[in-house]
Amino acid sequence: MFLRNFWYVAAAEDEIGRTPFGRMILGEPIVLFRTENGHPVAFEDRCPHRHLPLSMGKLVGDTLQCHYHGLRFAADGRCVRIPGQDHIPKAAKAKTYPVAERYHWIWIWMGDPALADPAAIPDFHWLDDPEWGAKSSYLHVDANWQLIVDNLLDLTHLAFVHETTIGNAAIAEHAQVKVERAPNNVVVTRWVIDQDPPPTYKKVGGFTGNVDRWQIIDFAPPAFLRLDVGATPTGTGAPQGKRIGGISMRNLNAITPETETTTHYFRGQAHSFDVKNAATTNKIFEQVRTAFLEDVAVFTAQQRVLNLIPDPPQVDIAAAAGAIAARRIIDRLAEAERNATQVAAAE
Ligand code: FES
Ligand SMILES: [Fe+2]
Repeated sequence: MFLRNFWYVAAAEDEIGRTPFGRMILGEPIVLFRTENGHPVAFEDRCPHRHLPLSMGKLVGDTLQCHYHGLRFAADGRCVRIPGQDHIPKAAKAKTYPVAERYHWIWIWMGDPALADPAAIPDFHWLDDPEWGAKSSYLHVDANWQLIVDNLLDLTHLAFVHETTIGNAAIAEHAQVKVERAPNNVVVTRWVIDQDPPPTYKKVGGFTGNVDRWQIIDFAPPAFLRLDVGATPTGTGAPQGKRIGGISMRNLNAITPETETTTHYFRGQAHSFDVKNAATTNKIFEQVRTAFLEDVAVFTAQQRVLNLIPDPPQVDIAAAAGAIAARRIIDRLAEAERNATQVAAAE
């Protein structure tokens, strides 16, 4: 199940250039490239002539030339050349998708093009804001996209999956947790007060004593999770908004379904201390990467089980409240898209 009328991250900016780049998104094959002046373009990755993936073709000026019989398509998808033939049939047109470039990512709109509004692209400014140091990367994951959303909304798993990196028992046992629900948003706030910092925080933040640690998880559909995380020495007033000393970071996740069982995972890590120091940015990124791969091992293993037993019954616990709220939003939006498609088909 996919939500279509949303922006998704299709690629990192440096993945797309003057060589056609094929990528499956929401089960649809897409080809991306840049025009000569650098604008990103996305087509369905299928030639309207005999269905060869257009990503096998090459760019000739601002046109994409199919590898099979040489039809050329302009950036608006129209066929502008058929070798040996003057007449160009109207149907000779590649399907195009709205695209935008922002926060070092190429975004694609997978639904009704008339509804595509770049103002609806979620805010990931931390990735290119001079006030922050940041680094992002891409990973292909063999798991359904909603398993990743669940993972990020229930951070009690840090105590078990990440006990050597960003987790410790305090996260699960001594947290004050609040779940706030809005029609298209869930925010889970977790405070762990006056507890030992986890291993990664000791390495990155240099803490020697106990800390007050926060994790504020912001979910926006379909699958954007922006985490405000950090810690200060305990008692300095962080829960009241006084973040003095310590470290403050953003863990940024843009999750794009490839198929029902595979996902494109774009993630970034930003920090507001020692901002101009690339060594700090890299150190934090590598530390979080270790934790990230611990998560990937978990949700790919879940997917292997679900491939054998699709849709088994499951048990809910209190810690899953945020994840359950997010699934409700996704289900409601999917239902609305299904109804709108049926109405359109009936008209
Ligand atoms: S399949 Fe593309 S030109 Fe024939
Ligand atoms: Fe995790």
